[in-house]
Amino acid sequence: MTDPPHRDATRLVEAGRRKAWRGRLVNPPVERASTILFDSVAELDGGQARLGEYRYGLQGTATHWALSDALTELEPGAAGTALFSSGLSAITTALLAVLRSGDELLVTDSVYGPTRKFCDTLLGRYGVATRYYDPLVGAGIAELIVPSTRAILLESPGTLTMEVQDVPAICAVARERGIVTLIDNTWATPLLFPALAAGVDISIMALTKYVGGHADVMLGSVTAGEAHFDRLQTISWDLGHAVSPDDAFLASRGLRTMGLRLKQHEANAREVANWLAEQPQVGRMLHPAFDSCPGHDNWVRDFKGSSGLFSFEFRGDEAARRRFIDSLELFGIGYSWGGFESLVLPADPVRTVSEPPAANLVRLHVGLEDPRDLIADLANAFKAAA
Ligand SMILES: Cc1ncc(COP(=O)(O)O)c(C=O)c1O
Repeated sequence: MTDPPHRDATRLVEAGRRKAWRGRLVNPPVERASTILFDSVAELDGGQARLGEYRYGLQGTATHWALSDALTELEPGAAGTALFSSGLSAITTALLAVLRSGDELLVTDSVYGPTRKFCDTLLGRYGVATRYYDPLVGAGIAELIVPSTRAILLESPGTLTMEVQDVPAICAVARERGIVTLIDNTWATPLLFPALAAGVDISIMALTKYVGGHADVMLGSVTAGEAHFDRLQTISWDLGHAVSPDDAFLASRGLRTMGLRLKQHEANAREVANWLAEQPQVGRMLHPAFDSCPGHDNWVRDFKGSSGLFSFEFRGDEAARRRFIDSLELFGIGYSWGGFESLVLPADPVRTVSEPPAANLVRLHVGLEDPRDLIADLANAFKAAA
């Protein structure tokens, strides 16, 4: 009989810590390298580039392998994880790995803006057509598939508008037809939504957000099962992607506390969102745990929790929305999210084939501050905006 698998908190502590370090260094050393030296020409000739073997800096060092092993261990069904210098480069390279000229790609209309830009510009130049679909399409995706459809990109919840997709239904249709599915799983991480287990082929994260967790690292990952991992890793090396070992080290360190941080982000965000939902200046709440959020039932069925990012409809004109945001003191105005600190952005979703659930949005990332202070800050800003 095999032992039952460890629970999430234990796996976060254990993941990726190679046996050689046990009892010695708790954390992987930061190994910086371009050149790796070989003992002989025969040894130089003999090797193929393989993850986990010293060859050249591009293939990484123990610092990188510790992080990619850890991410692989956290994703049930994964064979490996390739690292990238940003979340965006992880997404674009994964798409390049599965697509070729003449293919069509189906992309959720709620996709992260820079991903949309890549699909509409560069992918198009290389002969790949992108068609957008309603994020809530579910099994109806079957009707959009044409002979050239090669891949489907999901993002759940969607950027800014937070629609939770019916991932298992879309992936079941795709698998039947031999179409590859990829998901941007940055919001949930495998702790809240183990994407491969839900039927997705390739799971992508901006490690910049919750894995790094401290707003000081740019990094991305692509995790996949046996069927896809090798070609993902190969294209990443062929395109010359490399990641700084210092950043990989910081992401490994962030991972150890990610479970704790996510629980606190969830609790704080729900407290702030519950308060917001009662305010006259707030229209629709776009938080997956609220039944006003499109796809809420999918979240209830598929997710183990929520994180700290959500949006709400601001009732008021553009000038009032600006005054509200400018008046916040604890919420910083800035891109990205997933760090320990609270952030705010005005959000105006761009859509091609579907209506956004609401316009005039404010997106909040609720950090690890005391939620009572965040609520007081929001209350002051509503007053200032009036
Ligand atoms: C949902 C989502 N995916 C991907 C990215 C890109 O990550 P990075 O900033 O590391 O390129 C972002 C960045 O904000 C994001 O919000």
